[in-house]
Amino acid sequence: LSSDGLQALLKGVGVQGPIPPFPLADTKNSPVDIYISYLAETVTQLTGCEPSVAYESIQWANDVGDLVVVVPRLRLPDVDPRVLAEELQYNFPDTPLYAAPFSDAYNLRFFFDSRTLAAIVLPYIIDRGNLYGEDAGVGLHSPGSPDGGRRKVVVEFSSPNLGQEFDGNHLRSTIIGAYVASIYEGMGWDVCRMSFLGDWGKNIGLLATGWFRFGSEELFAADPLRHLLDIYTEIGALFKAEQKTPEHDKAEKRETPIAEERDAFFKKMEEGDPDALSLWRRFREVCVVKYAELYARLHIDFDEYSGESQVTHETTVEVESALKENGVEEEGEEAWIINFKGHGYKGLGTPVARHQNGTTSYLLRDIAAVLERSRKYSFDKMIYVVSAKQDTHFQQVFKALELMGHTDLAGRLQHVSFGKSQGLSSQPGAGGTLLGDILNQCQSAVLEFLHAHPGDFSQQPSEHTTELADGLGTTTLMAEELSIKRTSTFVFDLAKMATYDGYTGLTLQYWLDRVKVKLKGSSVDRDRLPTANYSMFEEEAYGPFVDVIRLLVQFPGVVKSSFRLLESSAILTYLFRLVDLLALVWTLEATQEEGEEELDGEQIDGPAGSSGNKPAKEAVEQES
Ligand code: ARG
Repeated sequence: LSSDGLQALLKGVGVQGPIPPFPLADTKNSPVDIYISYLAETVTQLTGCEPSVAYESIQWANDVGDLVVVVPRLRLPDVDPRVLAEELQYNFPDTPLYAAPFSDAYNLRFFFDSRTLAAIVLPYIIDRGNLYGEDAGVGLHSPGSPDGGRRKVVVEFSSPNLGQEFDGNHLRSTIIGAYVASIYEGMGWDVCRMSFLGDWGKNIGLLATGWFRFGSEELFAADPLRHLLDIYTEIGALFKAEQKTPEHDKAEKRETPIAEERDAFFKKMEEGDPDALSLWRRFREVCVVKYAELYARLHIDFDEYSGESQVTHETTVEVESALKENGVEEEGEEAWIINFKGHGYKGLGTPVARHQNGTTSYLLRDIAAVLERSRKYSFDKMIYVVSAKQDTHFQQVFKALELMGHTDLAGRLQHVSFGKSQGLSSQPGAGGTLLGDILNQCQSAVLEFLHAHPGDFSQQPSEHTTELADGLGTTTLMAEELSIKRTSTFVFDLAKMATYDGYTGLTLQYWLDRVKVKLKGSSVDRDRLPTANYSMFEEEAYGPFVDVIRLLVQFPGVVKSSFRLLESSAILTYLFRLVDLLALVWTLEATQEEGEEELDGEQIDGPAGSSGNKPAKEAVEQES
């Protein structure tokens, strides 16, 4: 819809005059802003208040009505808001957009006119299509100018460690990170998806130590992630046992043989020893390939597999010189440390930058990585999606940059943290979970569910069932993760996910499928949309359909607030409300048809209603 097209649409339903311009209104992406603009204009004319003040006095009515003018917010001197609200109610001019307003104490409440709502919003949304809810203007440097240039964001997420398990934190980071990247994209940003592998450090030294004892080319070729995890688990157990022997009592500060071997190997890596590096490279390369396959099952595609290994020696030295120059990095008793404590940041302590043997720490590598990424991408923003367990770590990274003089750069970084993860279980005897195990568990649970609900999904030829179950498995896993608040604890519970009971991904997919089936074969003549007859929406029987449109109008606002807080739950909650409403519409439709023909049950066999979303057919059967 061009702005002329939109204007013609409004004129067609009898709205007089052009859309009043308000800086806060986003009429191109959000239809309710059109309503608010006209309303604010009338309020300005009737009361003589500031236009922007009028605009900001209008909000969604959370209970009665659709929109409400909060009269006290007009801040008119010497006016009793109650009296004014009543006056406005009587003087408000007729408009095709709203039914007559009514005042309640301090508020003036409005209901959308059902017919014009449908006549405006349906063509509007159909025209926006897949882009509805997105706002490409947010990512522009200067939204006004046509060549504003998109802003760049690096979103770092998932970031598993080589040879170690893919734990609940990695899982949460992966799913939340994918959401963060997508919503930034929808808001017009240029997004770089980055995984920062834990592929450097003493843990790789330990993995290599294990490889020399237990490594098998055959097992490695067959299932590299599993074999490396097994090796890491085994060597980890030996390492622990060794540390408990009396001659390596902690107090002695003498390293055990395994620890010595581990540290020596890592030192060789840092010194560029070709053999050490070639083993490390074999591990890394195969992991990247395998992870890419697994991420594809989740429809995630990383632009860059970075990692701790990619940080250069030069940059770490550069970081340290800056820190030393500013008196923040000091030689401690056992290592070079960053003395946050001594610089007034007590809570950040005195973490190690460089170990005594010259090797780098996780923290130093992370600080250096910021400099390198900022040079490579000149990002406007970088987001780390990492568990709250690393809150202090990221505070240290950001503060160190500030203390180095990179205050501006530090200001462009954000740690998007999340709460605990529980309930992941590995197969008995295994050293831990791998991403493939998690996805397979979801797939099997859904497969079982599909067998219990044959025919529920339209595309279910039997030979594709496992494929379907894989897609549904990841959907339901993602929906579960994304429907809770970030700071909440995520509980991985297959029984809760692979069901229609409650608000699950299967419920969402079920309804999406139903709508698609219903729309199949029917086509919308876009040219006729603006002039079609929408009068049926005035009929009472169409009330629930109008409610669906009401909800659709809220979508762009929901996306925006989700974006502002980076809370996916706002969108999921919205989708579940939509599904509840669809279930209601479906049932009503079936009941209406029932008057005409026999009820054949088929029409209402979906997960229905807010009452736990149980399949309605079962409910009907239970009743009869
Ligand atoms: N590999 C780390 C872990 O598994 C997560 C990395 C987070 N990102 C970062 N830039 N430090 O805990």
